[in-house]
Amino acid sequence: MRVVHLETTESTQDECFRLLEEHTAIAVRADIQTKGRGRHGSWWHSPPGGLWLSVGLTGVDGFACAVAGPVAVCQAMTSYLPFPIMIWPPNDLVHSGRKLGGILVEKRGAKVVTGFGINLYQEVFPPDLNAVSLKQLGGKGFTLEEVTRNIISAFTGLLELPIQETIARYNASLLGQGKSVRVGDIEGTFKGLSPEGFVVGDTIIPVGRFTGMEITE
Ligand code: BTN
Repeated sequence: MRVVHLETTESTQDECFRLLEEHTAIAVRADIQTKGRGRHGSWWHSPPGGLWLSVGLTGVDGFACAVAGPVAVCQAMTSYLPFPIMIWPPNDLVHSGRKLGGILVEKRGAKVVTGFGINLYQEVFPPDLNAVSLKQLGGKGFTLEEVTRNIISAFTGLLELPIQETIARYNASLLGQGKSVRVGDIEGTFKGLSPEGFVVGDTIIPVGRFTGMEITE
């Protein structure tokens, strides 16, 4: 897949949607984003040293992208770290409670853009972010270009698999399963992801309505 590299842009998501007007599959990476966005309209800190990447595809399923995105990062990180990166639902990539990255899936008609924000080389973060970079985790042998290729190839490979297989891989990396949790007004045991959404007790919460989870035990 072609990867367009920009020094600076507001958000690689918007650039990627623009390029999807002329392509069916295209990726955009930027060194800096001036208006990087996270889930639910939050601001995404995007200084130099991180991987700010959007992968645009046409005619793919948004749910499949939301499942494959975090799994692709977990898979890619095994090349650089001796321990696994885990998923905090719905799609934070974490190690020991600190956030290595996050995924944002946006859909406009048949166009689906999956955004990967991964902290690679940063040495300092705003204190409220509780973030960590691959470098700070002791990651070895990585470059921005190589991680980009590795994530895109893991992601597109996962989209070829039956969704049940990708969900099984997602659940294998998912934290919090078996714990008593609260998601909005719903309380119960967290049972992971199913094809219909996250399972909390007897309730299934669609991925788009899953805003965040708190462990109560
Ligand atoms: C989250 O809230 O955890 C998801 C963050 C996703 C950030 C990435 S960086 C590349 C792409 N461009 C954006 O503006 N956001 C996503």
